Amino acid sequence: MTAVTSPLEALPGGTSAASLQAAEAGRAWWTDAIIYQIYPRSFADANGDGIGDLPGVTSRLRYLKRLGVDALWLSPFYKSPQADAGYDVADYRAVDPLFGTLEDFDRLLHEAHGLGIKVIVDLVPNHSSDEHAWFQAAFKSPPGSAERARYLFRDGCGEDGELPPNNWQSVFGGQAWSRAPGDRQWYLHLFDGKQPDLNWDNPQVRAEFEDVLRFWLDRGVDGFRVDVAHGLVKDSELPDTEHRKENGVLVGPMWDQDGVHEIYRAWRRILDEYPGERMMVAEAWVTPQERLTHYIRLDEMQQAFNFDYLLLEGWEAAAFRNVIDASLALSAAVDATTTWVTSNHDVVRAPSRYGLSRPGTHPKGIDAAGEQPDEALGLRRARALALLTLALPGSAYLYQGEELGLPEHTTLEARYRQDPMFIRTRGADIGRDGCRVPLPWKADAPSLGFGPGDRSWLPQPVAYARYAVDRQEGVAGSTLELYRQMLQLRREHALGKGRLCWVDAGRDLLAFDNGDIRVLINFGTEAAELPAGSQVLLSSEPLKEPGELPANTAVWLTGP
Ligand code: GLC
Ligand code: CA
Repeated sequence: MTAVTSPLEALPGGTSAASLQAAEAGRAWWTDAIIYQIYPRSFADANGDGIGDLPGVTSRLRYLKRLGVDALWLSPFYKSPQADAGYDVADYRAVDPLFGTLEDFDRLLHEAHGLGIKVIVDLVPNHSSDEHAWFQAAFKSPPGSAERARYLFRDGCGEDGELPPNNWQSVFGGQAWSRAPGDRQWYLHLFDGKQPDLNWDNPQVRAEFEDVLRFWLDRGVDGFRVDVAHGLVKDSELPDTEHRKENGVLVGPMWDQDGVHEIYRAWRRILDEYPGERMMVAEAWVTPQERLTHYIRLDEMQQAFNFDYLLLEGWEAAAFRNVIDASLALSAAVDATTTWVTSNHDVVRAPSRYGLSRPGTHPKGIDAAGEQPDEALGLRRARALALLTLALPGSAYLYQGEELGLPEHTTLEARYRQDPMFIRTRGADIGRDGCRVPLPWKADAPSLGFGPGDRSWLPQPVAYARYAVDRQEGVAGSTLELYRQMLQLRREHALGKGRLCWVDAGRDLLAFDNGDIRVLINFGTEAAELPAGSQVLLSSEPLKEPGELPANTAVWLTGP
């Protein structure tokens, strides 16, 4: 009998860990995974204080299983004063009492694993909270102290240090420096003043985060979403800069410095010490997209969010085709998997973005004074876009509520807004609260079933009742049932593992084959013809005229 050799053993001698990983990459779970983002404070509230929590997530795991997701990504639930909704971490190893306890986390993880769902957690290494013990110590310690060396403290300019050390601006508006009381030093914060940037040239910072990784890996997490992965290392001169965006992305001496990659290589080695397939996904806003592939080289992370796809402007076949082609080619060049993203907790929800007169534009929030999206058109396009997106090879991220077709809250009053972006720009940037509104579970219940009572940390718009889970469950043609069908068929036809072959279609149409499925989407304003003899497996809208694909509609077809 011939021994069965595994593909790994069959590799020629002298192969590196990296090439082994490459050989395995074709099989690893994340290559075609559907990863569902949970924003814990807005998902489900178990104890009725108006803020979603970990027991709330655990109570809905069966819903997620039924939806058909492979993994969850949990936005931060760590101890935090919540100055940036938890992206300001005061203790990287503790659960904030708002969200529950470490035991609640362990239970969530255990039950998710029991259902075959992986769990990845958010890691926020660029900055801590100013309430982190390290920063508290730094504030009390003199300039030049070891305590200050873990952050980026610098002497101010001007006679008494009354001016900031350089001209850097915060992403959330205003200057990126705040002064330490009582001396001439300032500390850098690329985000809010309550989010001081850590100094990644300091070995203690590196060691600490390696230990934090192990803390969560030891508990059994399947991976990490790395927040602001392009920001950890700054040009050490901290030079003044011209503040500008290229392709919608901030560029400058604080972003995408080559030095970050060494950090991720070290983390990769740690993840590799653990059994199972642990992964990392980069939140890296970089341009051009070719730079993004550096983060997903074989010995670094496994995935990076595809923001070029997320930020695409317009509703045009050619633009989608270009970004799809570029994304597939670039990730193939580094043997990595492509990701597809259409919504997250930082941008206006897709049904609202695509209902604007300039579809797909991503204003930093929408308020009552701005253009209101066309709700029906936006939803129709978002559903068609989902059929396109979920038929693409690779892995896709869903943002909680996306499966309900949930729109942005576009008339949220200023008095409720909590996003530091809104606060620091005094409302000039409306901010992200509108995509973070608690989910509707039951149309007729107080807080729409978000919690047991009527409390909800942001008010839900009246329209959300129509989108409630209980209004959609079992209702043919509802967005929830559409997503369930899509995810099931995607799995049955192994679309995530497939290959895309474009098929010539008319202007305003995109058509491709992936395995035995043909996907067709109509970006135009007129109905188009469906290929003769094909059978419709799934359509984003009911097809009223046989043989016709209406505008803003997509279908999955099988051959004659
Ligand atoms: C990331 C998060 C965002 C947060 C920022 C600062 O961009 O996605 O929500 O505000 O980092 O941590
Ligand atoms: Ca709660």
